[in-house]
Formats: sequence, structure tokens, C-alpha cells
Amino acid sequence: MNIKLRLQEKLNGFIPPNLIHLIPSSYSVIGNIAIVRFSNEIPKKYKKIIATKLLELENRVETVIEQKDTISIFRKPIVEHLSGEKKMITIHKEFNTLFEIDVSRITFSPGNKYERKRLIDIVEDGETIVDMFACIGNLSLPTAKNHEGIRVFAIEKNRYTYGFLKKNITLNNLVERYVPILGDNRKKTPKNIADRVLMGFFNVDELQLEIAVDAIREKGWIHLHDLIKRSEDRRRKVTYLEKMQHKKDFTIKEINTRIVKKFSPSKIHLCHDILVKR
Ligand SMILES: C[S@@+](CC[C@H](N)C(=O)[O-])C[C@H]1O[C@@H](n2cnc3c(N)ncnc32)[C@H](O)[C@@H]1O
Repeated sequence: MNIKLRLQEKLNGFIPPNLIHLIPSSYSVIGNIAIVRFSNEIPKKYKKIIATKLLELENRVETVIEQKDTISIFRKPIVEHLSGEKKMITIHKEFNTLFEIDVSRITFSPGNKYERKRLIDIVEDGETIVDMFACIGNLSLPTAKNHEGIRVFAIEKNRYTYGFLKKNITLNNLVERYVPILGDNRKKTPKNIADRVLMGFFNVDELQLEIAVDAIREKGWIHLHDLIKRSEDRRRKVTYLEKMQHKKDFTIKEINTRIVKKFSPSKIHLCHDILVKR
């Protein structure tokens, strides 16, 4: 039986019948914290009741929180505790990789899981990766953990997030080959070093695109993420890179564009894989 039906069964008599259809049909679990998005039509007291029933149903969950939104270029989540142990820090395990995370202040999208797996699959042992928007190592830690000899240079601007990135490098025994760098990637990205550059952020500017090209050593891939309205031009960032070829003396050899996930009813999350030769 799916979670919505199981919850509906448990909530019978606890919430008014006219709200039953608004019970969430899914939620994400990070470590042992369940994160639920609710319809605005559900009053808070019923959200708490639903959360408590969810705790009873899910053995692996110790805390239930509501995710209301994600704000700012740092994509900080807005969350509220609803039921269970009052904690926001947990350790999440995925693809043999441990992530310690504060879910109230740092974003870790379960919807990007396939993208994390895809990177593990396409990367080859021994590569050097520059992760320009590292967060807590969301994209680059699993890749480094699941390959021999990968070196990573990971730049993160937010000091609090950077603290977790450092912890996670240690947790995963990657201190020898994963270098965290605190600061703005416009100033801190190493040059002429990478086989692959990760740009897992939507508000990338033109300078950052140039810096990504400079990070490539001879030939390599740039994985450039974008969030667009369905009606918008999918190639808008790629077009800029194409124009830049003449100015900066590099060539784009191949471009593959994929949909990472449906972000909302009107928006999609894309990733362009761009092979660049300098
Ligand atoms: C959305 S998160 C990236 C998550 C991860 N790359 C992924 O795709 O799952 C973006 C991260 O980039 C960081 N960031 C934003 N602008 C930056 C900059 N100019 N230099 C370094 N880090 C930056 C933010 O602090 C945040 O932790």
C-alpha cells in the first residue's frame, strides 16, 4: 500500500474528512529526518498530527519537519520542526558516501540522486574534478568515493556549509585527495587543472562560465546546470559559451543536454554536458 493510503488509514478520525485528500503522497528522507511539503490549505495543528502518524509508520525516521521553501542564491531551505526528536543535523548515506548535513540550513536535493549516480558512472578513475559550487560535496563526494585516484578541488562560499564539507571529506576518508576551498569561485577556482568541471548551481554568470573554461586542462567536460521555464530557450547558457569561443580561444566539441528533473509544474532542471578543448 502506498504511503498516502497508509497515512489516510491511520489518520481516520484524527483529521476532518475534507482534508484527507490533502495528505502528502510523498516526502523525502535525509538521514533519519523526514522532510514533508504540505498544501497551504492544511492548518498547522493537522500538519503536526500527520507528522506524528508518519513517525509511527516509518521506523527509520526520528524527526519530521516541514519544508516550506528554499531561498536566496545559497538555496537555504525554510523548514519547521513538526514531530519527533528536535534536531536538524543528521548523517545521510547514499552511494557508499556519508553526508553530515543540517537540513535547516543546507540544501541536499533528493531529486538530484540520479544525477549523482550518473556522475559516478561517467567519471573515470584518476580524473581531476573542479566542483565550483560544492555545497557539502553533493555531486563530487560520491564520485571521489566510488573511484580510485580521483582528485577534487571543491569551492564553497558559505562558511557554515564549508564546515560540513570539511567534515564530510574526513567522514569519507578522502582527506588525501579532496581539497576544500573556502571562498568565491570567481576568485578561488584553480586554472588549467581539470578533466571535469561541475557547475551545480542555477545562477551562474558569464564570468563564472569563463572561469570554468580556464579550469579545464587541454580537454574536458563542463557540467552546467540550469533552471528554465518550459517555454524558455534551453540553450541560453550554451549560446553564451559558443560566442565566447572566439574571444577566449577554445573549441566546443560536443554538447549533450539532459533533463535532470521536473522542478515545478512550470520549470525544469537541465544539465548541459559540454566538451571543451583549449
Ligand atoms: C545549490 S547548491 C549546490 C549543490 C550541489 N552542487 C548539487 O547540485 O546538488 C549551491 C552551492 O553553491 C554555493 N555558491 C554559490 N555561489 C558561489 C560562489 N560564487 N562561489 C562558491 N560557492 C558558491 C552556495 O553556497 C551553495 O552551497
